[in-house]
Amino acid sequence: MTTPTPAPDQPGTLPDAVDASKPNVARAYDYLLGGKDNFAADRELAGKLLAIYPGTRQMVKENRRFLVRALDYVLAQAISQYIDLGAGLPTSPAVHDIVRRYDNTAAVVYIDNDPVVVNHLWALTCTADPRVEAIPADLAHPAAVLGHVRDAGLIDLAEPVCVILAMVLHFLDAPAARDLVAAYVDDLAPGSYVIVTVARGEPAIGDQITRAYDAATIYNHSHEDVVSFFAGLDLIPPGVCDARAWMPGWATPAPFYDRAGQVLAGVGIKK
Ligand SMILES: C[S@@+](CC[C@H](N)C(=O)[O-])C[C@H]1O[C@@H](n2cnc3c(N)ncnc32)[C@H](O)[C@@H]1O
Repeated sequence: MTTPTPAPDQPGTLPDAVDASKPNVARAYDYLLGGKDNFAADRELAGKLLAIYPGTRQMVKENRRFLVRALDYVLAQAISQYIDLGAGLPTSPAVHDIVRRYDNTAAVVYIDNDPVVVNHLWALTCTADPRVEAIPADLAHPAAVLGHVRDAGLIDLAEPVCVILAMVLHFLDAPAARDLVAAYVDDLAPGSYVIVTVARGEPAIGDQITRAYDAATIYNHSHEDVVSFFAGLDLIPPGVCDARAWMPGWATPAPFYDRAGQVLAGVGIKK
């Protein structure tokens, strides 16, 4: 007796948009963060990265811990509108979880070009919180993205917002990343904040990682590159530094031991 093929909407099948045989940016990252929304191909890619640099898992966690501190800082400046570009699969604490600790009515709009990410965010978050929205869009098109944000009706772009670009600008080369941030900043109200993080490796490690990473093309940005992404913004002290060392308002980065891989992180304000 043969097993009948399940209809596409039955458990055990995947929607057409999901190709489980190829590694995927959001799912491989989810695996590194300890999540469950990943397939063998994603775990294989993560395994290759961990074999090259075992600290990779630590780095993604440091990125999320930095985000908590950076958002705590921005929330303390009374910003109540958040746009998370390249949001990723739901994790804990997510941006809206951090925001809700302080502000029950702040608006959070998640943007991602992966339909599975957007569906997960929508099902797990937006249905429970009317002030959170998830929109499928390519962050590389700022005018279109901000148009969608406007249309969603939760965020008033005439007022200050916080734009988050966490672990996404390494998918663009440095000039493109610089132009992209500048295009978003152009359309933001004075008083708006921009949060940026990118993964970086010393050349010996970074070159191997960029070659091994086959879910997308990635670029190994220098500290100088990341500082240049904040053109037109005032950097909040301690400026761009290792995510572990970014403590809001500290004049210089906190002490940290040097490592071959790091997350470079910073927060800027549009004056
Ligand atoms: C490495 S994850 C980072 C997730 C989250 N920002 C964080 O820092 O924890 C990158 C996310 O960006 C999304 N992404 C990559 N390129 C994108 C693009 N051009 N437009 C929108 N989303 C993108 C991926 O689908 C993935 O969910």
